[in-house]
Amino acid sequence: MNATLSPWQIRLEAPGDAARIEALNADSFGPGRFAKSAYRLREGVSPIAALSFVAVEGDVLRGSVRFWPVKVGGHEELLLGPLAVQSDQRGRGIGIALMQAGIAAAQQGPWRGILLIGDEPYYTKVGFSRLPPGRVRFPGPVDQNRILGLSLKAGELLNLSGEVRRGAIEDPVCASGAGVG
Ligand SMILES: CC(C)(COP(=O)(O)OP(=O)(O)OC[C@H]1O[C@@H](n2cnc3c(N)ncnc32)[C@H](O)[C@@H]1OP(=O)(O)O)[C@@H](O)C(=O)NCCC(=O)NCCS
Repeated sequence: MNATLSPWQIRLEAPGDAARIEALNADSFGPGRFAKSAYRLREGVSPIAALSFVAVEGDVLRGSVRFWPVKVGGHEELLLGPLAVQSDQRGRGIGIALMQAGIAAAQQGPWRGILLIGDEPYYTKVGFSRLPPGRVRFPGPVDQNRILGLSLKAGELLNLSGEVRRGAIEDPVCASGAGVG
């Protein structure tokens, strides 16, 4: 779906969106989300503001995507997620449009690639593909079939390998585990 022809619009996340995004993620992923490997990589680290987009329809926040900085084999790369769309608004192209906005913005930056943990049939729609098993290692147990990657450099294969670790830690209280979740 073409966002310019849609009743909803994609724009950068603003500070005033945070509470509604947290409510959307709570509805979409439930309380178990904090135990997931991807959340461990986000603890104490802020999402990248220039890559965080929301979908809005009038005053209503329909969806959100954020990207986090991670280190993969020592290099700064990106982790996509959470991506969430209001449950009664799914199937309208909002999720794809949110990711396309984030990927286009990420292509302007220094990163080589984006990683995520998710359903391959969905993320294939925006160019992700499964990484060879064992190529990158997330903290905690992760289904290898759900580790997907996307190269941000035209014509280059995604060549990330190694341990996936948190990016720059900004909040040492959260980073030590207290106050999260
Ligand atoms: C996953 C999610 C973001 C998709 O948002 P959406 O706005 O409904 O997605 P879009 O409308 O852009 O895309 C819909 C298409 O993707 C397909 N699709 C959606 N989820 C899929 C999945 N898990 N696996 C395969 N295909 C999927 C739909 O069948 C549809 O296909 P079609 O265009 O051929 O009919 C939304 O369902 C959601 O918020 N889910 C709960 C949170 C979640 O699981 N997030 C992803 C993990 S980070």
